[in-house]
Amino acid sequence: MARVICITSGKGGVGKTTVTANLGTALALSGSSVCLIDADFGLRNLDIPLGLSNRVRYHISDFLTGQCALHQVIVKDKRISTLSFISCSNDAVHHDDPQVFGEVVQQIAQGYDYVLIDSPAGIENGFWNAALAADEAIVVTTPHRTSLQDADRVIGLLEDMIPAPPQLIINMADGQEARSATVKMQDIIDILNIGVIGVIHADVEIIRSVHKGIPIALNPEFESGLRFRHIAHNVAKNQQEPFISLKPKRHISVFSLPPRLRWGKNSSL
Ligand SMILES: Nc1ncnc2c1ncn2[C@@H]1O[C@H](COP(=O)(O)OP(=O)(O)OP(=O)(O)O)[C@@H](O)[C@H]1O
Ligand SMILES: [Mg+2]
Repeated sequence: MARVICITSGKGGVGKTTVTANLGTALALSGSSVCLIDADFGLRNLDIPLGLSNRVRYHISDFLTGQCALHQVIVKDKRISTLSFISCSNDAVHHDDPQVFGEVVQQIAQGYDYVLIDSPAGIENGFWNAALAADEAIVVTTPHRTSLQDADRVIGLLEDMIPAPPQLIINMADGQEARSATVKMQDIIDILNIGVIGVIHADVEIIRSVHKGIPIALNPEFESGLRFRHIAHNVAKNQQEPFISLKPKRHISVFSLPPRLRWGKNSSL
């Protein structure tokens, strides 16, 4: 039976999907069997960083409406034989019953070592679906005050729902960002007061990897790839060693680029 872990945050756009794709990839690379579930009914996008968009034929909603068998919703990654992916839905149907969702997750969990559930932003139905189906939770935050505030709220909710203490990943951490806009690492740890299992910098290579559909965790040449592998090691060992010392071969901070190149429609990355 798998460890079922939901990846959540409260605030949108902080990196839940990126973490799910890369942590799942790193766990699978280490030999564990992993199933990633995109629980964002209606706005699914976990298929993109995984590069599996063209392979999704059925969703959990199709299984729930009797249009396919459960095994048909499972997409197997061709690069890593131990990695699978499941999309919930293209539309917002069947998102309002956490018990039904939880039962499906339990069935899926029987075939894997890990099931990672990518939670949607906010604390509406999608969040409850993901959290109530999980035995463990990883909260993703950036060092921005709004993200921390939402993370704090979500941690309070998770602590009432899941016996295991939630763990924290600090994403888009970067010393070069305007100091006034972000909270220092030690202050984040003090404010949220939960175990930190990893710190990922704001990294252009992560944006590139999402565009290519190749999880950066596949590539140990990149610092962020190694950092995701380190987080996977922490998860597998149930340990909290957030920091690793690295001499990166390639790490270009997004904040060292002009704004038009960072992200968005006009980005040339
Ligand atoms: N460490 C990082 N460095 C640079 N860009 C990043 C990093 N992490 C995530 N991103 C980028 O930030 C954007 C938002 O990331 P992502 O989709 O993973 O967030 P999310 O929390 O899942 O969002 P949502 O709440 O909408 O589901 C994406 O374009 C992603 O490529
Ligand atoms: Mg997401």
